[in-house]
Amino acid sequence: MDHFLYRDGALFAEDVAISEIAAAVGTPFYVYSTATLLRHFKAFDDALDGMDHLVCYAMKANSNQAVLKTLARAGAGMDVVSAGEYLRAKAAGVPGDRIVFSGVGKTASEIRLALEGGIRQFNVESEPEMAQLDAIAQSLGKVAPITIRVNPDVDAKTHAKIATGKSENKFGIPIARARDVYRLAASMPGLEVIGIDVHIGSQLTDLAPFEQAYQKVAELTELLRTDGHDIRRLDLGGGLGIPYERSNAAPPLPTDYGAMVQRTLGHLDCEIEIEPGRLIAGNAGLMVSEVIYVKSGEGRDFLIIDGAMNDLIRPAMYDAYHDIIPVIEPPVGGEQRPYDVVGPVCETGDTFAKQRMMPELSAGDLVAFRSAGAYGAVMSSEYNSRALIPEVLVNGDQFAVIRQRPTFDEMINRDIIPEWL
Ligand code: LLP
Repeated sequence: MDHFLYRDGALFAEDVAISEIAAAVGTPFYVYSTATLLRHFKAFDDALDGMDHLVCYAMKANSNQAVLKTLARAGAGMDVVSAGEYLRAKAAGVPGDRIVFSGVGKTASEIRLALEGGIRQFNVESEPEMAQLDAIAQSLGKVAPITIRVNPDVDAKTHAKIATGKSENKFGIPIARARDVYRLAASMPGLEVIGIDVHIGSQLTDLAPFEQAYQKVAELTELLRTDGHDIRRLDLGGGLGIPYERSNAAPPLPTDYGAMVQRTLGHLDCEIEIEPGRLIAGNAGLMVSEVIYVKSGEGRDFLIIDGAMNDLIRPAMYDAYHDIIPVIEPPVGGEQRPYDVVGPVCETGDTFAKQRMMPELSAGDLVAFRSAGAYGAVMSSEYNSRALIPEVLVNGDQFAVIRQRPTFDEMINRDIIPEWL
């Protein structure tokens, strides 16, 4: 559930009319709902009630400082994958002991930064990375707490570009080799082995692949304990999907997920960490855009809007579906017609939807893309020299711009002309 609802015929974000924000900041823009962010965080936190746990928000989904601060204040830890994310988490006030460092290729400088600044744990993804971490930790006179990410070889049944738990994927070490790698880790004085990490993919709409993976983690926990390792923390990754298409069956809820975690891993008496990103931020955000033209093509009508693939790349990159709704509420049972919804970028790939049934729209109308709070703004670019679009946060009846649209001068002046030109 989110807090984007029609009220008196117009779309609202909590208690603020979308049209009011559009008038203040111009289109296109992203808008996030504080109440929805907090509701989703709490859903996970409550789902793991009764188990020692920490919800580490995967901030790659949406790393705006205001979003991070909202979640951190509610008690969230952070899952980071780069120096930039680590520093963003710190800047939002998250202490090092609530930050988990994931990622398949952590550089020496990233490792050093996190060791010096404080870190809850590194999720190690390979033997060379382990050796690097050991060496750097020793050189700093520190001991790095680690889990090792295992690749359980399960099919997450999601889009190929966001599945991570099959043996052919670049992530983690094959679970069959885990005991050897843990033995190696235990022999390194700069490392302290504390647990196991697994993450099998994103936008999973079925619990079965999670359960398969977690069962393997449970078996591995027992084996590693008999090998003498003090396995006391399990990082279960993120990946629970969200309903992008309202007409489809809804994916399992965090409560179902929590019950499954309890069932498969509860008996091990480990601290549980999870790293949800999309489920916390996805349906907490809209991208709002204005219709520039309605163009009649050969047998089809194009809705040309001012948002484009550089602003929201998910449809072009993953063939992702996003609900697109008018900001003025259409009459119930009113007539609909098919549109190809496209942006102004000079690529056919800049298509958000084909033959999407929508009420009749005209130039100047506003439309909102639902489920755009995760992997929207963070994946945007200035392709076609289009300015990054602003982000707005709503809280009850207040709203604030939390990232400004840059001016064209700012964009141009970022380039440097060499002195010989
Ligand atoms: N933990 C790790 C180690 C991850 O790699 C990811 C996502 C997450 C947690 C969070 O997963 P989530 O709960 O958000 O599904 N750009 C793509 C999604 C890429 C996900 C990458 N890793 C998209 O727009 O669908």
